[in-house]
Amino acid sequence: MNSRIGCAVIGHGGMGHFHSHRMVESPELDFIGAFDVIPSRTSDLHEGGKAFESMDELLADDRISLVTVATPNDVHKEIVIRALEAGKNVVCEKPVTMTLADLDDMIAAARKAKRLFTVHQNRRWDPDFLAMKNIFDKGTLGRVFCVESRVHGSRGIPGDWRNQKEHGGGMVLDWGVHIIDQMLMMTLPRKLVSIYAHLDNVTNENCDDGFHVEAIFDDGLVFRTEVGTSNFIALPRWYMLGENGSAKIDGWDVSKGEIVMVSDWENRDAVPIIAGVGLTKTMAPRTDDTIKRYPIEQVPGDWRDFYRNVCACIRGEAEPIVTHDQQRRLVRLLELVFESAEKNETLKFSL
Ligand SMILES: NC(=O)c1ccc[n+]([C@@H]2O[C@H](COP(=O)([O-])OP(=O)(O)OC[C@H]3O[C@@H](n4cnc5c(N)ncnc54)[C@H](O)[C@@H]3O)[C@@H](O)[C@H]2O)c1
Repeated sequence: MNSRIGCAVIGHGGMGHFHSHRMVESPELDFIGAFDVIPSRTSDLHEGGKAFESMDELLADDRISLVTVATPNDVHKEIVIRALEAGKNVVCEKPVTMTLADLDDMIAAARKAKRLFTVHQNRRWDPDFLAMKNIFDKGTLGRVFCVESRVHGSRGIPGDWRNQKEHGGGMVLDWGVHIIDQMLMMTLPRKLVSIYAHLDNVTNENCDDGFHVEAIFDDGLVFRTEVGTSNFIALPRWYMLGENGSAKIDGWDVSKGEIVMVSDWENRDAVPIIAGVGLTKTMAPRTDDTIKRYPIEQVPGDWRDFYRNVCACIRGEAEPIVTHDQQRRLVRLLELVFESAEKNETLKFSL
């Protein structure tokens, strides 16, 4: 008997292909097929995979218990609810949707159908995130008072639906949803108090092609997230400041990251230096006898745990890793990012 969970993909573009390939590789999943409004997108399914001619045909297939939705953002809600109503368990690509009201409708549909509904927040397994979260959780740097997390590119927004607001385009909803989710996961159980956001429109007037968000937490932590698509010189992916040291990862490669810790706080005999046209003692670089440098510890993590968890939830053996409450907090925060930028105001957050 086949005890694997039958699954399918709706929306078989870039990310749909990612999912169908991973489903084929998974020993727990049985990939049945995919549907896309553009038929050529399902012409290259692996042997045996069915190219469904309509969403109704896919949703009526009793072999399918799990559907992953990987369409543009503006149609997630409608498709997720239809799949839940057809009795399917559902994984939705990020951003799950654009408003808290829409998300609540999706959650209500999942509760009514008594089916799993979760979101593919895959970047919770990124090695750079896991490594920086480990430093944060362990208190390696002493009390952390500032974190900066950013992604910088220099290609503007690719010319598909991603640069069209009506399809849920823009960098807040594309990359922001990943790095803001990482921020919310890293800082638990702190409360987020307020945010201030600024959106960029450098190459794109229709939707944001970059943003800066400053979030303040109840212990005073300042957490800055930033995405840029016109950054020909990239700043570090991660920069973390604690009372006793700093940590940095320049790109995605944790092995190139570095921690610098103070080893002798009492040694205060800084020698003034000439900086620019002035003299400074405060900004004089530290000498090697008062600091120590360490590599950043790599933390084991396996993205495949996402689908392992989905399968375990469907079998009734686990609770979802990506929960409705986490998604409600995230989507509410994304709403506030747009509102703060529009009003040019710092806004209070409560959820
Ligand atoms: N988690 C990640 O790392 C990650 C990375 C990239 C994209 N995404 C997300 O995946 C989703 C898809 O992005 P993409 O890059 O694959 O886009 P894409 O444009 O490459 O693919 C989207 C596909 O959906 C199809 N489609 C559109 N409307 C449809 C409908 N009503 N029914 C069925 N198919 C429909 C399109 O024809 C297209 O083939 C988005 O929500 C995006 O944010 C997630």
